[in-house]
Amino acid sequence: MRQPIVIAPSILSADFARLGDDVRKAVDGGAGWVHFDVMDNHYVPNLTIGPLVCKALRDFGISVPIDVHLMIEPVDRIVPEFAAAGATSISFHPEASAHVDRTIQLIRSFGCSPGLVFNPATPLEWLDWTLEHLDLVLLMSVNPGFGGQKFIPSTLQKLRAARQRIDASGRAIRLEVDGGINAETVAAAAAAGADTFVAGSAVFGRADYSAVISDLRVRAESAVA
Ligand code: DX5
Ligand code: ZN
Repeated sequence: MRQPIVIAPSILSADFARLGDDVRKAVDGGAGWVHFDVMDNHYVPNLTIGPLVCKALRDFGISVPIDVHLMIEPVDRIVPEFAAAGATSISFHPEASAHVDRTIQLIRSFGCSPGLVFNPATPLEWLDWTLEHLDLVLLMSVNPGFGGQKFIPSTLQKLRAARQRIDASGRAIRLEVDGGINAETVAAAAAAGADTFVAGSAVFGRADYSAVISDLRVRAESAVA
């Protein structure tokens, strides 16, 4: 079953010198979740932010779900720290964990929602023995590491396949898409089955966050209506 549409602005494209204010602007503009990209200059060739910044956003008063996307290797050591810092969901790449099932259980044991992330070349077979334990399936529509890249069209076919698996499971699992989501691509991703849309460069730095977020939401909703 498809979940209500959520637009999740990625703070990778936010103004890091004014992060709290910029994230608050996105939330006030209708962001359902905040997407929090964690990069380690090892699993991906970029370096971003960690649990301290997640906690700082909570202390600043950001109360919407914080959707932590770990692009780091190894995964397990940092999970308790993100849970303590106020993460709502924690998603990781299966290639970055030696024991995927253990990592999923670990995330759950700290009270967070576990998600598995699929790179463009990562097969959905990783869901065969994990889907029943997940709350979130995140398909990357770009290679992870940077904002502002172009949506990879084969993601649509993969979204349809993931949607079928989720529907067959009968569980309320979100299907999230991340990378190159904007006014041109959001409707196709929604029609292919996504219900949760990460958008970094399409939202942050724009003149009117509220206008962009509601435009993305309307396009996604009308694609599935
Ligand atoms: C890329 C990140 C994305 C990124 C998306 O590795 O996971 O969340 O911020 O940025 P846009 O929306 O600009 O493609
Ligand atoms: Zn991301």
